[in-house]
Amino acid sequence: MVRALTTSAQVTATDLLRDAFRERFDGQPQVFARAPGRVNLIGEHTDYNQGFVLPMAIDRACTIAARSNESNHITIRSLASDEEQTFSLCDLKPEPKGLFSDYVRGVVAGFCERGVSVTGFDAVVDSDIPLGSGLSSSAALEVATATLLEELTEHRVSPMDKALLCQKAEHQFVGVPCGLMDQYASVFGRTDQLMLLDCRDNECRYVSMADPSVALLVINSNVRHQLAESEYAVRKSQCESASSKLGLQSLRDAGLESLNHPDLDDLEVKRVRHIFTENQRTQSAAGETEHQAWGTVGELMYASHASLRDDYQVSCAELDAIVEICQCIGTDGGIHGARMTGGGFGGCAIALVEVARLKELCRRIAAEYRIRTEIESSLFCVRPGTGAEIIPAS
Ligand code: GLA
Repeated sequence: MVRALTTSAQVTATDLLRDAFRERFDGQPQVFARAPGRVNLIGEHTDYNQGFVLPMAIDRACTIAARSNESNHITIRSLASDEEQTFSLCDLKPEPKGLFSDYVRGVVAGFCERGVSVTGFDAVVDSDIPLGSGLSSSAALEVATATLLEELTEHRVSPMDKALLCQKAEHQFVGVPCGLMDQYASVFGRTDQLMLLDCRDNECRYVSMADPSVALLVINSNVRHQLAESEYAVRKSQCESASSKLGLQSLRDAGLESLNHPDLDDLEVKRVRHIFTENQRTQSAAGETEHQAWGTVGELMYASHASLRDDYQVSCAELDAIVEICQCIGTDGGIHGARMTGGGFGGCAIALVEVARLKELCRRIAAEYRIRTEIESSLFCVRPGTGAEIIPAS
C-alpha cells in the first residue's frame, strides 16, 4: 500500500537519499522504502518465552532508495555507517559474515525461498535510528529491505509473513536468536498506538497512547558492552533449560509455584521470576495506559528495570545510573517512570515524562549522567508511529 509522504523528516530523508543515489549510481532511484525502529514500553526478554510485550514503532526509521540493475548483484551503500557492500544472488547461504549486508542478504534469501524471482539492485540506505542502541535499527533494515523487495518484485507477502521472514533472516544470517517483537513492531506500528503482543499466538491488541501531556523520552547511554549478543543467546538457553525442567512448553506458563521447583538452580529461579513478573507487569501496563494512569505505568516501568537488573541481569551501570537519576527526580519533578529498553548491556533507557517539563528534564538528566559517568548522553522524544511503507518517489 502506498501512503502519502507525511513528515518533513521523511522529505529530508528521501532528498538526501536521492542525492546520494545519484552521486553513487547515476540516475534516479526507482523505489523508496521506509521501516521504523521501535521502543518497548515494557515486556523485556519475554517475547522468546511466548510472553507479552508492549512496544511501539517510533517516528525514526531506516529508509532505502533503490533501482534494479538487471544483474545478479546487489550493491548497498550505507550513509549511516559510510560503507558499501556487494553480494551475489548466488551467495545466499545462511552464514553470518559480520557485515551490515547480512541483514539484506537474509531478507533476499527469504524471498527466494518463497519462490520469488529476485534480480539485482543498487541501493543507498540511511537511518536516523541510533545503530545498535536497543531501538531495533537491525529490524528496521530488515523490514525496509522486505518492503523494498515487495515493490521491486511485485510480490506481496502478508504483513505477518514479512515479520517472520525478517526474524528468520536475523536468526540465520546475523546469528542472533531474537524473538519477534522488533520485526513485528516495525511492520505493524500505528500512529499513537502501542501494541500488546501475545507472543504465544502473535495476536495483538492496540493500546492508545495519545495523551499529549506525557511523552516518552529516549535517553541513549551511548555505551554498548561487548556482552550484548553472546549474553542474549545465553539468557535464551537458560530459559529453555528452566522450562524443560519445569515440564512447561515455555516460561510463559511458569507460575509462582515454579519458583520453588527443586530442580531449578538459583540462577534459573531468578530468570523464571523475571519472566513471570514481567508478563504480569506488561499486561497491567497495557490496561493502565488505556486509563492514562501514568503514575502506575511509571511504577511498573521501575519494577521492570529492577527485575532486569537483579533477576535477569541484562542491565549495566550506565543504564542503572539513568534510571536512578530519573527516580530521584521523581513524579514531582515530572518523571513518572523509567527503565532500560531493548536487549540491554547498554543502549537506551526510556522515561515517561510530563511534556511541560521536557526541556528542563533533558538538561538535568544529561548533566547528572555526565557527572556520574563522564559520558555524554543523547536525548530525544519519540511518538508511536506507522509501520513500514513505500514512500512515493517524487
Ligand atoms: C532484542 C530482540 C527482541 C527482544 C529484546 C528483549 O531487541 O531482538 O526480540 O527479545 O531484545 O526484550
